[in-house]
Amino acid sequence: MKFFVDTADINEIRTLAETGLLDGVTTNPSLILKSGRDIKEVLAEICDAVSGPVSGEVVAMEASAMIAEGKKLAEIADNICIKLPLTMDGLKACKALTSEGYKSNVTLCFSANQALLAAKAGATFISPFIGRLDDMAIDGMELIEDIRTIYDNYGFKTEILAASIRTVNHVKEAALAGADVATIPPSTLKALVKHPLTDKGLEAFMADWEKTGQKIV
Ligand code: G3P
Repeated sequence: MKFFVDTADINEIRTLAETGLLDGVTTNPSLILKSGRDIKEVLAEICDAVSGPVSGEVVAMEASAMIAEGKKLAEIADNICIKLPLTMDGLKACKALTSEGYKSNVTLCFSANQALLAAKAGATFISPFIGRLDDMAIDGMELIEDIRTIYDNYGFKTEILAASIRTVNHVKEAALAGADVATIPPSTLKALVKHPLTDKGLEAFMADWEKTGQKIV
């Protein structure tokens, strides 16, 4: 499973990139607002810090304007992935852009039928929003499972990018459901490594090692 980080905070991204565990980045207009940065400047810095796909989202509502914005964003770097909304215009733009060889991420997916349409439009990634479905008492993970089944039934190559991830359990469940990628907020990504028994065990090993009086190097 690939891990993307869901943020436009360049400092967080650089720190996480150093771990070697980061396969890409997703941003959206809300995350750009939160960063306080100019979209093109910050995307350029992110693309420089991470070699994998970096999603930058268009904000036009009509297909030809989305295509123009997508192409402008793609000029920033080779690893830009054009993020498009799951509307008929977004799908039309997706088909046109992917036919020309651009990478695309179709976002705001809340149903299996929407995901089927995105795959038919040639999307590189489909982003089902787990947390926002859970917020409405609808099982977000069931959507990932349904999309996995549908894509496998027809051999669609579109990658399932589990988005709106809120907890470490979401990551595990998305992996079990066969999501290809999870885009994870920095705090949740860092929390994946934590376990109280790891801390306790390490503390005991270190205390015993101290008593041996030895050194490895
Ligand atoms: O990148 C979009 C998505 O991950 C948003 O998550 O928490 O705002 O629903 P959230």
